[in-house]
Amino acid sequence: MVNRRAVVTGASTGIGEATVRALRAQGWDVVGVARREQRLTALAEETGASAIACDLTDQAAVDALIEELRRSGPVHALVQVAGGARGTDSVEEGSVADWQWMYDANVLATQRLVAGILPLLRKAASSDGHADTVFVTSTAAQTPYPGGAGYNAAKAAEGMLVKVLRQELNGEPIRVVEIAPGMVHTEEFTLNRLGGDSVAAEAVYAGVDEPLLAEDVADVIAYALSAPRRVNLDLVTMRPVAQSAQHLLARGPLHVRTDVD
Ligand SMILES: NC(=O)c1ccc[n+]([C@@H]2O[C@H](COP(=O)([O-])OP(=O)(O)OC[C@H]3O[C@@H](n4cnc5c(N)ncnc54)[C@H](OP(=O)(O)O)[C@@H]3O)[C@@H](O)[C@H]2O)c1
Repeated sequence: MVNRRAVVTGASTGIGEATVRALRAQGWDVVGVARREQRLTALAEETGASAIACDLTDQAAVDALIEELRRSGPVHALVQVAGGARGTDSVEEGSVADWQWMYDANVLATQRLVAGILPLLRKAASSDGHADTVFVTSTAAQTPYPGGAGYNAAKAAEGMLVKVLRQELNGEPIRVVEIAPGMVHTEEFTLNRLGGDSVAAEAVYAGVDEPLLAEDVADVIAYALSAPRRVNLDLVTMRPVAQSAQHLLARGPLHVRTDVD
């Protein structure tokens, strides 16, 4: 039987890195993609994945990535994790540069990647039965919050792209899965969003019992890819227990109420 090969973007840290580990543990061949080559190489050496450095906002770089993938073997799955947030500014004071970055990194990078990789997925599906795509959007794609507009808009747009893609691939043996996490405590996401302010970044998670970990999202991705091929997880929304809704985040230890029977 052919070993299945997955391309995981955002592999240099956070959810993408955890996904590389989870898929390698399940026996997948994995190609990790991100901009920072050194981090990818270290992960590749540790896990037996391979690595291709690529800026997904650069069309020429994505063309080269696709060519390298085509040369190096089949692609049975795309796991698009790369993306992120910049800033928490209001609509009135929104930074066009930050909003542009978010649209480029979350939406246009996804379109570019899908357009390039679909022929490879179809080829693998033709010879090996099916292929898969998984996209990590966000609960920010579903629920607006003050200061979130740039990220809300970008992630909602990415989510719409995914939903349209599923319809456009109807009739083909290619799954399209969307995973929308709430608060995940990764090393860099909030730090980057808040311009490198580590005190402000840690305050976001302060007292939360307990935020999701990158591994939790990676586990769901791994399940989505290993489920029977008839099962398409259209949209998995996952949050920490302490975050009942986007605006409803409990701080302090979770505890059982004692004032009720
Ligand atoms: N953390 C959360 O609370 C949370 C919640 C919901 C959804 N999400 C979403 O989940 C995804 C991953 O989150 P995370 O917390 O793991 O984020 P993260 O730690 O900030 O990692 C982002 C990843 O994306 C890569 N990346 C960014 N821009 C890129 C580009 N132009 N080309 C190629 N790679 C690029 C980064 O690698 P390089 O810097 O090496 O390029 C990095 O590997 C993101 O799409 C995020 O929006 C996160």
